[in-house]
Amino acid sequence: MAQNWSKSGWRSKPSVQMPAYPDLESLAMVEKQLSQFPPLVFAGEVRQLRQELARVCRGEAFLLQGGDCAESFEEFNADSVRDTFRILLQMAIILTFSAKRPVVKLGRIAGQFAKPRSAEFEIKGDKKLPSFRGDIINEIDFNEAARVPKPGRMLQAYTQSAATINLLRAFSQGGYADIHRLHAWTLGFTEGEEAKKYQDLSCRITDALDFINAAGLNSDRIGGLKRVNFYTSHEALLLNYEEALCRIDSTSGEPIAGSGHLVWIGDRTRQPDGAHVDFCRGVQNPIGIKCGPSLSPSDLCVLLDRLNPSNEEGKILLISRFGAGKVSDHLPALIQSVKNIGANVAWCCDPMHGNTVKSKSGFKTRRFDCVRSELSEYLAVHNAEGSYPGGVHFEMTGKDVTECTGGVSAVSDENLKDRYHTFCDPRLNSTQSLELAFLLAEEMSRLHPPAPRRAIKA
Ligand code: PEP
Ligand code: CO
Repeated sequence: MAQNWSKSGWRSKPSVQMPAYPDLESLAMVEKQLSQFPPLVFAGEVRQLRQELARVCRGEAFLLQGGDCAESFEEFNADSVRDTFRILLQMAIILTFSAKRPVVKLGRIAGQFAKPRSAEFEIKGDKKLPSFRGDIINEIDFNEAARVPKPGRMLQAYTQSAATINLLRAFSQGGYADIHRLHAWTLGFTEGEEAKKYQDLSCRITDALDFINAAGLNSDRIGGLKRVNFYTSHEALLLNYEEALCRIDSTSGEPIAGSGHLVWIGDRTRQPDGAHVDFCRGVQNPIGIKCGPSLSPSDLCVLLDRLNPSNEEGKILLISRFGAGKVSDHLPALIQSVKNIGANVAWCCDPMHGNTVKSKSGFKTRRFDCVRSELSEYLAVHNAEGSYPGGVHFEMTGKDVTECTGGVSAVSDENLKDRYHTFCDPRLNSTQSLELAFLLAEEMSRLHPPAPRRAIKA
């Protein structure tokens, strides 16, 4: 167990972005109830994800992490879960084919409810109210009562997460079969040179899959298409919820966060001496750290030492998010400091959170070109530094929303109002997500030919 750690130790550390619950009695009751519920994930699964991330760390696998910015109570239904699962699987197949490496699939799902906010308050006209902090904390409606943090919402988040993970387990164990119909996915790409390129690639992938089928190789082992390992992740922001779901792994005697397979520490809550780092340093789960422009190389080294003192592979995922045009200002120094101290980490790029802008029509949006550009810069910097760009992290949905602009489907500023459904940040829609997977696949196959295979012993 980590030194001087207890699951409630975070309570005596300085914390930011946490709600001040007015009803402490109800808070204590909810925490007690949650602490008696079964965990949502199990220690064996967490260990398995760590092994998969260790492969990412060594350059043998690639990570795809994605899902909603914020899950919501209102939008929850089986179709949304299926759509997110399906689009992530589709992207994973494209990436596996091009990167010639297994792709680790990690949803931002079944727990991604609490949101850090840049502003404490939201102002509309002459009314000023506390900000919406995600459905697990308060309500999005713009009135006084809605914005009061209510502990009971944690129970609803738990129930929704349990139902979500139940469905994901069913899908990933073979309940979702039509993943082979790749050509159908690209029907949305109808015009232009780019569209043709995507269709060509999807034909090549379909051919390869057909060949595997025809040759009778389509076992569960080959390509892992029938059964997939699908993991969950979210930001460990609401520490009352995290503490209440923390459990002791009966095999190792070590604590695990029972709320999701991987939890990450946000860019606003990664103070080395703060509450969030303190909670995360004690659990066995792999831990993500968001690395934004204000993260200094020396703070990163302190964080790595605190969160992974024995320098294990597969424990730390560094998720960089600087914004297009800024990657080369920040990432090289972080990569060098990680190298200098010999830290084992997997790198991942979140090209979303540094690229949020306000559109002319007033919507929070992201331009597809900026997302694409940050990804290219990330690949180029890692290539120049001789380190492995292990994965990507997207805010995306399997639905046809209009929240980010651009891409072959050419969502314009004027289109944003049509299907702007997000509860927080703008997400890539299904066509934009697939398009990025194709673009990324293309760039990766140019920059990173597969690692030489080890000789197979007879
Ligand atoms: C997020 O991933 O939703 C988020 C808030 O990210 P960051 O901490 O990088 O701003
Ligand atoms: Co977000």
